[in-house]
Amino acid sequence: VTTEATSASVAEEINNQYRHVFELLGRGWSAEELSGPRHTAEPQEMYVDLMARCPVRDLGDQYYSVTKMADVQYVTRHPDVKQGTKYLGSDRPAIPLGLDGEEHRKYRRLLDPVFTPHRVAPLADSVRALANELIDGFIEDKRVDAYRSWCEPLPSTIFLSIMGLPMETLDDFLRFKDLTLSNDADVDFEEGARRRNEGAAWLNAYFSDAIDQRIRRGEPGDDMLGWLITSEVDGHRLGRDELLGILSLLMIAGLDTVAASLACFLSYLARNPEQRARLHAEPTLWRSAIEELMRFESPVTEGFRVATAEITLPSGTTIPANSYIHVSWSAADLDPDVFVDPLTVDLARDPNPHIGFASGYHRCLGSHLARMEMVTALQAWHTRIPDYRIADDAAMLYTGNPRAPHKLALVWD
Ligand code: HEM
Repeated sequence: VTTEATSASVAEEINNQYRHVFELLGRGWSAEELSGPRHTAEPQEMYVDLMARCPVRDLGDQYYSVTKMADVQYVTRHPDVKQGTKYLGSDRPAIPLGLDGEEHRKYRRLLDPVFTPHRVAPLADSVRALANELIDGFIEDKRVDAYRSWCEPLPSTIFLSIMGLPMETLDDFLRFKDLTLSNDADVDFEEGARRRNEGAAWLNAYFSDAIDQRIRRGEPGDDMLGWLITSEVDGHRLGRDELLGILSLLMIAGLDTVAASLACFLSYLARNPEQRARLHAEPTLWRSAIEELMRFESPVTEGFRVATAEITLPSGTTIPANSYIHVSWSAADLDPDVFVDPLTVDLARDPNPHIGFASGYHRCLGSHLARMEMVTALQAWHTRIPDYRIADDAAMLYTGNPRAPHKLALVWD
């Protein structure tokens, strides 16, 4: 089976989706906000202020932006609200993210058991070993570009091994995720579309070839890719488009989000030595610390949905049918109606009902893997390099979504 060339109508739909998202962001955030706090290390006050001034923003032409926790929860759990992010640049929906209702549930039933806490726990030793091996490579230099040399290769290498992909493809996959996300502050709509197409074409070709080879050999393989090739949904094996839809989403999610989160957390801890001291004195706080940093940093900042029927939000605003809705996980995670002193980072905060991994039907599939990786890796870092700071010459420009400082220069004595 070969993937059909993108038909004109699907191509148009993909472009429309991205144009909606691009326009929503442009409307959702004023020029000042876009060039200001959103791309800095500390956007949190901006979100709190935005929420207080205007919790639901009617952006015109049936575009809405929703920031309060209760409204975001309501939107993401409503049966008449569908995903607004169907495609990730290619001509088929990302699976399961781009699907709704029963179609969505059947793929979650297939994939959920692979990423339970029980299934990911045994990987902790490999994460620790790799975190230390990478640190060995730069600890004597007393300076590192932490995103490129640690945050990015660590979860990506682990994810390639989970998937059963050769390590020499790491750079190609990192390039694929950078092309697909195109979240640098200066990338415009046309350039973003060109990059996404290039990334999708590379991924299709790579996995089509890998799947063909395994099928020809008659050995699907004793790894995640092999498992997917032989998996069944609705009593039939996954087809080529289903496989590619799942693989492209997993590769983006597995490669970028944990890297971005590690970079946000290291950057925060580098700027807040008193919080590091607290973790040093009370190492049992690491688990709740990761939850609190997820809340405060919300590295995946927002999602997009479409209301297919009129809905009335808990805050009272009625959103008409066929409206496009921007949901801000970042703002909801700072909602003063839910979190006492939302701008204070309390590493022991409990309860901490943050939605850094989203809420509702599309809640993150990989949250247990991500949590295990972040706790294990950051403990390893702080055992080896407890005291560090941001280099004076570091240019701390954060990307859009996911947010991360891609140039995180850290120094220590
Ligand atoms: C700290 C790291 C991570 C963060 C912050 C994060 C965040 C999110 C968020 C916010 C969503 C919802 C997107 C939306 O509804 O628009 C999501 C969905 C998803 N995530 Fe993650 N994620 C992380 C790590 C991972 C990892 C490691 C995987 C790999 C297995 C993964 C796989 C997925 C998948 C497959 C979905 C789609 C779920 C669905 O549609 O039902 N994520 N994630």
